[in-house]
Amino acid sequence: MLTREKITAIQHDSNVCADIVGFDFDRYDERDIKEVRKYWLQYGVIRFKHTRITDDQQVKFSRHFGEFVIHPKQLQEGGHPSHPEILVISNSMKDGKPSGAMGNSEATWHTDTWFYERPPAGAILRAIKVPPSGGDTYFLSTYIAYETLPVALKAAIDGRQIFFQNVYDKTGKIRLGKAEPISRDFREWSGVVHPLVRTHGETGRKALYLGGTSEGAWIVGMSIEESNAILAELWDHTTNGSDVFVQSWDEGDIMMWDNRCTMHRRDSFDPSFVRVMHRTTTSGERPI
Ligand code: OGA
Ligand code: MN
Repeated sequence: MLTREKITAIQHDSNVCADIVGFDFDRYDERDIKEVRKYWLQYGVIRFKHTRITDDQQVKFSRHFGEFVIHPKQLQEGGHPSHPEILVISNSMKDGKPSGAMGNSEATWHTDTWFYERPPAGAILRAIKVPPSGGDTYFLSTYIAYETLPVALKAAIDGRQIFFQNVYDKTGKIRLGKAEPISRDFREWSGVVHPLVRTHGETGRKALYLGGTSEGAWIVGMSIEESNAILAELWDHTTNGSDVFVQSWDEGDIMMWDNRCTMHRRDSFDPSFVRVMHRTTTSGERPI
């Protein structure tokens, strides 16, 4: 008979993240996955410290949490040579071309691919190679962001929807769809409409849904001035809150986040160092 270690979660000072201990990536069953899932839903972000798993194991593990989503960057610079399920995040260059996505720059606070009709439910990010400093990843809870909103602000956004254009990214590169004249009101571009306060399909908790930038976002039905003012307040409240978990990576570390109730950002790092991460992404519901 197998003797099994009990799977437990050790919470950090931050409410946003817990370390999972006792999970054996070489030998687990459905019950173990259920435990992991429970903690993932409870905390929003869980961490497995110092794993030694292979790409195959990452893919196999991820499959328990839903269908794979192919990130648009996987079709561009972030493809993995043998695992189509994996997005390579890396600043290294090969034959004059990037061998992964995101380079060495800062990634500002965001939730992943908010401009999709069905943004992913989760991501599993594993450190392959990390720089000696820089490149930390920060997490916050959008449940907490919602719950701690000042009463008046909460009332102002009650029942509101938010439009996100999905044509251009922040650098002006085409994200989805066809080019649009920049001079045209972005609200006439193609985009998606999501609830500004979404209800998590599994936990039933409400979370603020700001996407990845207040640019190209509009609270439907408001004047653009009012929408911009409220979005600025919401962003300020969310990203200047105190409860942020900072992940300083070691090789083998895995961060697994629930993309429906968290946001994250990444520090830049010295481009003379190489940082490589392998990421799998699982599909989510249409936000309600
Ligand atoms: C991501 C992301 C952060 C990092 O994978 O969605 O934002 O630490 N990455 O590389
Ligand atoms: Mn991201």
